[in-house]
Amino acid sequence: MRIRLLMRKEVPTLLALYQAAFMGKPWFMSWSLEKTKNLFQERSALPDFLCHVLIKDGVIVAAHGYNRFSDWKQLGEYLGPTVGEDLAVQLAGSEIYYENLLITDTKVQGRGLATRLRQEVFRRLRRKINSQKAVVIARYRSDNFGTIQSAKKCGFVHSGIESPLPNGLFFQYWQLIL
Ligand SMILES: CC(C)(COP(=O)(O)OP(=O)(O)OC[C@H]1O[C@@H](n2cnc3c(N)ncnc32)[C@H](O)[C@@H]1OP(=O)(O)O)[C@@H](O)C(=O)NCCC(=O)NCCS
Repeated sequence: MRIRLLMRKEVPTLLALYQAAFMGKPWFMSWSLEKTKNLFQERSALPDFLCHVLIKDGVIVAAHGYNRFSDWKQLGEYLGPTVGEDLAVQLAGSEIYYENLLITDTKVQGRGLATRLRQEVFRRLRRKINSQKAVVIARYRSDNFGTIQSAKKCGFVHSGIESPLPNGLFFQYWQLIL
């Protein structure tokens, strides 16, 4: 098993995994490949975006993306100003990272691969941060039990900040102090 940065030539493989992963629970999305590509491009255009992949038996089976926002205002422009301001109050002075992508091949979910990938990515991130205070923010839908369970294992805690969704669910904002 190996963890390394995604190579440009591997983007089509990643898109296929991305599309399939969001067809499953709790999303049940039927995105076209074009839509999936647009979503990935939107994430990869975020400042200082990095995407790591986990390779097993020579094949990409999981992927993780994060980026760095320069300040809370920039995060607020992405997540909404109220969320940005609320998080800024709690975490003022921190270097800000945002986890923006996490997928595991549907054939091998539930085997700890996303958790393993996240733990390694954050171990590497801890080594390279400049500041004394740094935080990774993530947004999870309240019914995404798999990603929340895995996030807890990586040390994320719920910030207490949530934003309602039209279907009675919530987006929850989680934080990992590095
Ligand atoms: C979220 C996702 C990346 C997790 O990948 P994974 O490799 O299966 O994750 P892991 O096996 O490392 O961890 C999942 C944990 O959640 C648990 N879990 C899964 N479904 C669960 C459920 N319905 N209720 C409670 N726990 C659940 C698993 O048992 C596992 O915990 P454990 O290790 O204590 O047994 C994968 O399900 C996926 O690609 N989902 C679709 C895309 C997505 O939602 N991405 C996150 C967007 S924020």
